Amino acid sequence: MDAAIEARAVRKHYRGTERPALDGFDLRVAPGSVCALLGRNGAGKTTAVRILTTLLAMDDGSATVAGHDVRTGGDGVRRAIGLVGQNAAVDEILGGRANLVLFGRLRGLPKAAARARADELIGRFGLDDAADRAVGTYSGGMRRRLDLAASLVVPPSVLFVDEPTTGLDPDARRDVWATVRRLVDDGVTVLLTTQYLEEADELADHVAMLRDGRVVLEGSPAELTSLVGETRVEARFATADDAAAAGRAAGPYAVGPVDVAGVTVAVPVPDAGAVTTFCAALAMAGLRPEDVAVRRPTLDDVFTHVNTPEEAR
Ligand SMILES: Nc1ncnc2c1ncn2[C@@H]1O[C@H](COP(=O)(O)OP(=O)(O)OP(=O)(O)O)[C@@H](O)[C@H]1O
Ligand SMILES: [Mg+2]
Repeated sequence: MDAAIEARAVRKHYRGTERPALDGFDLRVAPGSVCALLGRNGAGKTTAVRILTTLLAMDDGSATVAGHDVRTGGDGVRRAIGLVGQNAAVDEILGGRANLVLFGRLRGLPKAAARARADELIGRFGLDDAADRAVGTYSGGMRRRLDLAASLVVPPSVLFVDEPTTGLDPDARRDVWATVRRLVDDGVTVLLTTQYLEEADELADHVAMLRDGRVVLEGSPAELTSLVGETRVEARFATADDAAAAGRAAGPYAVGPVDVAGVTVAVPVPDAGAVTTFCAALAMAGLRPEDVAVRRPTLDDVFTHVNTPEEAR
């Protein structure tokens, strides 16, 4: 099936800046999936979103969104997409409901249809109590929900969300995540940008890690985490002698070098289930750990890895 979003070798160099913001940016997003574009400040996330949503022209490369060429089919792209920007575009003085009616009118809905759609979205996003209060008085989480609602006034086939939960508290963040998941259940393709690994892990089928304007690593969260490091069993002992003895006892079960440091020992194992074998080996050797933990690699480790210059690894 054709990709919902496809970018090839996209390049963008803002005038007067030292380095290109995007430099050989490639991406493919399958229809109906969630892709997280993950990167630190300045990695090029917003630039990619602005180019794919036709707000900004690329210098070089090509891209299609929902089958429309971003360069030559801008109208088609704009009709097919929704965009929730990093800085919301709602009116502060109007209420949430009035904002949604306005968005509907701007997207060409007749007055009655715009009102009906606004009411429906207000209900769906849990904004009933605040529907007619000035948006300027909304909390961060309410605003983000209103932003999402506004982007759905005319249901898009591809939704772009730039940093959906930056600045939100954990409850509001979960709220937004649930909202995004519901959209995906409805068949919407979502491209979101984020600096939060947890968010990519929670929401994305596909994670593309962006650094210096290009995707340096991509895959499912599980694929990415399996790339860095292995699962380890870590144990702590009362004495360094015990830790050293544990290192020797565990040696035959390790799938890589055993790491003994002071009173702790870390043993690379094939899977988390190997913790029982490890503990049995300790018991055979008459060793009693004070603490045993399994440590699986996380997206965090991957992110640190791709953002660490090679010479510093
Ligand atoms: N309008 C602009 N003019 C000049 N340079 C820009 C402009 N917008 C972005 N840049 C530069 O391009 C690079 C990429 O910026 P971009 O906003 O795409 O990053 P980002 O990944 O979205 O960062 P953040 O996490 O801070 O939102 C940065 O070096 C930034 O300073
Ligand atoms: Mg940004």
